[in-house]
Order: sequence, then C-alpha cells, then structure tokens
Amino acid sequence: MKRIFANELKEHAGKEVTLFGWFHNLRDLGKISFLIVRDSSGFAQVVLASKQLQEIVKKLSIGSVLKITGKAALAPQVEGGAEITDPEVEVLSAVQEAPPIEYARHEIPSDLEHILDNRTLSLRNEKIQAVFRVQAELAHAYRLYMHDVVKGYEYFGPNMIGASSEGGAEFFNVDYFGYTATLAQSSQLYKQVMVGVNERVFALMPFFRAEPSHTPRHLSEGKQFEFEMALWQGWEEVLDVQEGVLRFMVEHLHKTAAKELKAIKWDPIRLPTKPFPRLTFAEAQELYFSRSGVDDREEPDLSPAAEKELCRWAREEHGSDFLFITHWKREKRPFYSQYCQDKPELTETFDLICRGTEITSGGARRHIHDSMVEGIIEKGMDPKNFGDYLAIFKFGMPPHGGFGMGLERLTMTLLDLKNIREASLFPSDPKRIAGNRIRAKLFFGAETIRNEIIRLLKEGDVQFDHKLHAPTPTSEDSARVRGTKMEEGVKAIILRGKNSKKNFQFNIPSHLKLDMKAVSEAVGEKCEFEDPIIIRERFGLVIGGVPPFGQLLNIDTYFDEKVLQEERVAFNCGLQTESIVMPSKALIDITQGKLGSYAKE
Ligand code: 4AD
Ligand code: MG
Repeated sequence: MKRIFANELKEHAGKEVTLFGWFHNLRDLGKISFLIVRDSSGFAQVVLASKQLQEIVKKLSIGSVLKITGKAALAPQVEGGAEITDPEVEVLSAVQEAPPIEYARHEIPSDLEHILDNRTLSLRNEKIQAVFRVQAELAHAYRLYMHDVVKGYEYFGPNMIGASSEGGAEFFNVDYFGYTATLAQSSQLYKQVMVGVNERVFALMPFFRAEPSHTPRHLSEGKQFEFEMALWQGWEEVLDVQEGVLRFMVEHLHKTAAKELKAIKWDPIRLPTKPFPRLTFAEAQELYFSRSGVDDREEPDLSPAAEKELCRWAREEHGSDFLFITHWKREKRPFYSQYCQDKPELTETFDLICRGTEITSGGARRHIHDSMVEGIIEKGMDPKNFGDYLAIFKFGMPPHGGFGMGLERLTMTLLDLKNIREASLFPSDPKRIAGNRIRAKLFFGAETIRNEIIRLLKEGDVQFDHKLHAPTPTSEDSARVRGTKMEEGVKAIILRGKNSKKNFQFNIPSHLKLDMKAVSEAVGEKCEFEDPIIIRERFGLVIGGVPPFGQLLNIDTYFDEKVLQEERVAFNCGLQTESIVMPSKALIDITQGKLGSYAKE
C-alpha cells in the first residue's frame, strides 16, 4: 500500500492508504473517538469506531510513532477535507514516559529558558517548527537569488583559522595540535580572496563570537549570509544587491511558507514601494537628536535606542521596516574597511537595520596592499598574522566589497521574535552550548559547600566571621548564639516548581515569611517547598544548614531586597552548627542573586 502524507489524504479519497506519524491528540466523544496524527506535512484525523481500538489508543502517550492503514474518506468538516476510517493502528515506537514539556499545544505554556532546557522536544512544537522551516526557506531563497540573479559562485571557507578575521576580542581560541587556532568570526578574509577568483561570491557560513554579554540579540555561534563582489560603477551597488536579495527572500516566503507564517501569526514585514531609505551616519545622528532630544551626536556609534527610533522614522515616513545607514566612522569599523577619499575619518560602509536591530554590516574594502597593512596596524594588529590574505593584495585585487547578514538576526527581526535564541535550533551563549546549559561546577555535602563558601569569601577579599556553635533549631536560637539581630539572619529556602520540577532558592530575612505569590511571579510557575529527603539526596544538606549560595548547587538564586536593609547578614554555611556573619552587600555580589520583593510579615 502506498505511503501518503497527511496533506495528500483528500487526493486519495475512496482508496486504502498507509500513513505514518506521531500520536498528537485523542478526542474522545464516547462512542466514537478521533485520533490526530502528525507527520511532516501536517495533521490527519483518524476515526476510531471500535471500542477495542479506542482502548488501545487511550493508553498511548503523545509522541508515540504510529502506522495507520485505513480508508481515506472525504470529510468536509475536517481541515484538509478528508480523514481515515476503518483503521488498523500499529505502534512502531511507544513513548516511555510523559514528556517534560507540553509541546503538542499550539503555544508551549513555559518560558524560553524551560523551552531551551527541553530543546530536543520543544522543536516539535508547531509554532517553533514553523520558525525553522521559515529559516530554511530563507537560506534556500538566498542561494537561488545569488546564483540565478546575481550570477555569483558559492564558496565553502574554513572555520578553523590562524588569525582573527574581524579584530576585537570576541573570538574563541582552540588548541590545534599544540598551536593556538581561532574559530572564524566570519569568512571575511576568504570571501575577499574569492572575489579575486570569481568576482561575485556568496556563502552561508558559521561564525563564532566570544560575546560575553547575555543580550536578546547575541549568540556565540551562528550563521552569516556572506556576499562579496568586485568591479562596479560605485560601491553602493552592494546595497542594491542586499536590497534585491531581501525583497526576493520575503516574496519567496509568501510563496513557500504561507502555512508556517500563519502558524506564527506573522505581522508581515513592510517593504517600501520605493528603494529602502538610506541615511548617512551623520544624518542618522541628527535625525535621532531632532526626534528624541537625546544628543548623541558626538558618539562614534548608534545606541540600541537610536536604532529603534530611526526604524520608527523609516516606517512612518517611508513605509519601510528596513533602513540603510552608511558612512560610519572609521574608528568603529574593522581594519579592512575602505575609508572615504574626501573624508578619511569616514568609511564606505553600511549597516542595514530591521525593526530596530542591525541585521547586516558591509561596505567597500581596502584593495591596495599598503593600505591594508595600514588598516591592520591602525587597529593594533600585526600584519605578520595575515600572511596569505595580505599577500594577495600585491597580485591584483580589484575594488571590491560585500556584506555579512546574520541568519538568526534576520529570522528574528523578520518574524518579530523577542529573542535571538528563538531563531537558533541549538543556541550557544555564555550560559549554554548547543542548547544545553553549561553545567556549573557543583558542590555536594555540607563540608564541601562550607569550604567553597569560605574560599569564595577569601578570594573576594570579604571580611567575615566564621562561628561554630550548638545546633540552632529556630531563628531566635541562631540570633542568640551568633550574637546578631533577628533581622540580620538569612533563611535559605529551596523550592520546587510545580510544573518544571526545577529547584529555586529564595533567601529572605529570617523574621519574615516567604511570599509565595511573588515567588511564582518571579519564576513563572507555582512553587512548593522541596522535600527535605530530596534536599539531602540531591545536595547533601539538611534543612537548617542550607546556605544562601544556590549557585554552588546550580539552582537559580533569589534574594528578598530587605536583606540589604541591614549592614551585615548571618546564615548557616552548610551545617546547623556553623554560621557566617558578613556584609550583606558582599553576599549579593558574590552569589549574583536576583533581587526582588519576596518576603512579607
Ligand atoms: O557586523 P558583523 O560583525 O560584520 C562582519 O562579520 C563583516 N565580516 C561583514 C562584512 O561583510 N563586512 O557581522 C555581520 C552580521 C551582523 O550584522 C549580525 O547580523 C550577525 O552578523 N552577527 C551576529 N548575530 C548574532 N550574534 C552575534 N554575536 C553576531 N555577530 C554578528
Ligand atoms: Mg556589524
């Protein structure tokens, strides 16, 4: 029997068919139930009329892989216009346990962190799947346009390279047979070499950036749409190619990803009928000043607020969600940027911003050998590290330029996603690698934890008292044996999220009570006190000994801000018989706890 996809059911009405897919949902109407199966093309409805079959299917969990053989029948009331009747259901792969995340809902009812913590499963969610199908179509469209319209040649550059390609400090080093190699920040150097070969070249290349900041628009690994061209009437032709390819990509989405855009509830990007608006950097600064009153005109760069405001202007005045900004200051552009002959403090460069965020940087490059050497030295780098790349400029490099456009940035801004991690399948950032949380060094057991706290305090040059005393069952006892006030005591409480089962730590002044409503607002779910037996098994700690150092246990740590009302704080440092008294501000600094209002009388 022919295997068909869910979206082909109608064409096969009246015939016996086989469908493969995942158990998605069961709607039980008593006598009859409807099994919903998901495959890569969408959803299919399977009518279960036999009691026996209903009983079998009822026991299945979401995600079980099924083979359905039955009759395709027209059903105008169903999306797609057909369903399967008289089925046989075979379980090819049964789900072993309940999934830790509700991915089968249209929208997963969890925050982004939990979604990323369960990345392998959350990718199956309809809306999230749609984002990455759109992304794939963007990549496909880029290649089509660059190949067919621009007549460029695709190249495949190296990712482990000898020297930084963009300068700055944002690169990773790797051990390479005992030498230090660098992970490419872009394929900049190689695309320039390739214009000497093919004139017009393009690529979709990985990039690696050691960006220590945790922002909604930075990743440490991503992909860039690369483009480079040589020999032109003017360098602004690069902007024309950038605009052309974007228009083509958006059009392509409308043709190929209509279903996905609908699932995302896409707010379509605005493309102007006229060319994308263009401002010089100086004009952009003046415009921002006149619209906002904020005078950043002496700054070498545009702030995120300025980029947002300028995009608002482009939308209001030009009906455009895209805005080019050209002629950036030389001090802020990379070493290879061509400077303006008439104004050497400016460069022939541009950024493209979309809905308030930079998606592309590009421009003309220096193409004369000595000029390139000058550029490298000007940025404090050593020409010796640029061997072959630099040498090529002695052998006839034409005037050339191009751009690099971030795949994830483009996906994020086009689809209006809030965070770039939503546009990366397995995002890496300072907290994660390929989607997985980087495991903090964990500490287990009262003594180990106490030793680590003391080590941290010494390392941080913090003045503290380490006190040994009899076990103290109540906060009053603690205050008495430590010789501190009740208000100075800190209670460290370990909670468990009712949905995620994740642990959280909340630290509050010991004379107050935890405000559970404020807690659930802070963590995004209802919480309960963790079981003392689990605390003992998981962390090697007993209640009464838990210190306010959740980070050593790899759990998110929160502090009630009233802790800072006292100059100093006192807490048990792992054991019921040992306490530490120290300045309250230093405690917040060292634990990097999140401050908020979490306690009440
Ligand atoms: O602006 P960037 O650093 O420019 C270059 O890499 C040049 N080689 C481009 C050129 O041809 N002159 O990076 C280009 C684009 C950015 O505009 C952004 O979209 C993306 O790459 N990008 C990042 N995206 C996410 N996280 C990061 N850490 C990114 N760094 C760059
Ligand atoms: Mg840039």
